[in-house]
Amino acid sequence: MSDKLKILVVGKGAREHALAWKVSQSSLVDDIFVAPGNGGTAEIAKNIDISETDISRLLDFVLKEKIDVTIVGPESSLEVGIVNLFRSRNLKIFGPTKEAALIETSKDFAKKLMVDNDIPTADYKTFDSYADAKEHIRLIKFPCVIKADGLASGKGVVIANTYDEANRFLYEQMIEEKFGSAGKKVIIEEFLIGEEVSVFTFVDGKNISNVIAACDYKKLLEGDLGPNTGGMGAYSPPTYWNHDLSENIKNKIIYPTINALSNLGTPYSGILYSGLILTENGPKVLEFNCRFGDPEAQTILPLLKTDLADLILKISDNKLNDINVQWADKNSVSIVLASGGYPEKYVTGYTIDGIEEISDSVLIFHAGTDIIPSSKLLVTNGGRVLTLTSLGNNLNDARNKVYLNLSNNILFENMFYRKDIAI
Ligand code: AMP
Ligand code: GLY
Repeated sequence: MSDKLKILVVGKGAREHALAWKVSQSSLVDDIFVAPGNGGTAEIAKNIDISETDISRLLDFVLKEKIDVTIVGPESSLEVGIVNLFRSRNLKIFGPTKEAALIETSKDFAKKLMVDNDIPTADYKTFDSYADAKEHIRLIKFPCVIKADGLASGKGVVIANTYDEANRFLYEQMIEEKFGSAGKKVIIEEFLIGEEVSVFTFVDGKNISNVIAACDYKKLLEGDLGPNTGGMGAYSPPTYWNHDLSENIKNKIIYPTINALSNLGTPYSGILYSGLILTENGPKVLEFNCRFGDPEAQTILPLLKTDLADLILKISDNKLNDINVQWADKNSVSIVLASGGYPEKYVTGYTIDGIEEISDSVLIFHAGTDIIPSSKLLVTNGGRVLTLTSLGNNLNDARNKVYLNLSNNILFENMFYRKDIAI
């Protein structure tokens, strides 16, 4: 029997393909399973047909297969307590408990934590009565930002320019319950101006790693127009990123957040994703996420020089300081290829053709793809279908490598991507 590690990655997106790809490079790792996975993870791991929120079946699988470490991709698994359940059985798992994950799953919890600990963020008020929220918007300046308290797949935030827009959103969230219970409570906050940046750091409850910064593109269309999506592209690092900014963010935002969660008796372990805005009064927090971003994971994991499996083992033993987390001094650009119609209605089942024409210097991470068992054909199976990532010595170099490979290559019918990522 091999004494190498058996790993389970939970999730089905390109982020999880990137996580499985990264651990597959580790000499410590033998077998990799992905639940439920996609057409890309099937090529480097074994897909297991269990949904990411069915945590009791995931537990049964891990016990039966004697999995050594589980890596959790999406917030939905964390919210339902996968880490609590696995830790109660002394299993190693990468990610925060559901109490620490509240930093993403409840915006009200996150805002209160920040205000109580002097962590810079927009001024806000929380409401669970529609009448009170409606009264409040009569008194404030516009634009204002309104956020559903709970998870709403990136659709729970509006920047309202007028009273009517604000009122419409409040009504949809609080009375019509468009996102179920997620919007019964809302945050109304001050509109901030500045560059947005996502900052990622590994955390073991107390210690943090070197950080890496990335920028993502949430809007569907070029020029940041159109509806919000899960993310249409990303790059790392931002051109203005420097050591002083990174230290400032660590000292004013990341350490105080980790210490505050530890003081509450719910220490944070996993990857912390801080969504920041660089205002004229310094960096402020827009939101925290308790997992890797998608597509940011596909952008930053290829830059990680440290063995991810070793790093995750150290984190689960609360020994992050025993390993030097290193990020390559290179630039990375990721472009998302989506199905036409995404994020609304789109057709699936189109054949994906011509992947082999793409240069080996481009990494291909699958999201909404599937392999038809009878024909072995790779087909589209979701809104965001593939992420293509390239590294380079500068942003132009990295970006051009990806776009050159796309200019003559239509991989599936109705393929759509933004042409202005990292420009
Ligand atoms: P969130 O899910 O809280 O990160 O919000 C989604 C997006 O809304 C952010 O990426 C920003 O572009 C925007 N946003 C959120 N909060 C604010 C704010 N207080 N001021 C300006 N823009 C914001
Ligand atoms: N790209 C944004 C997110 O993963 O939340």
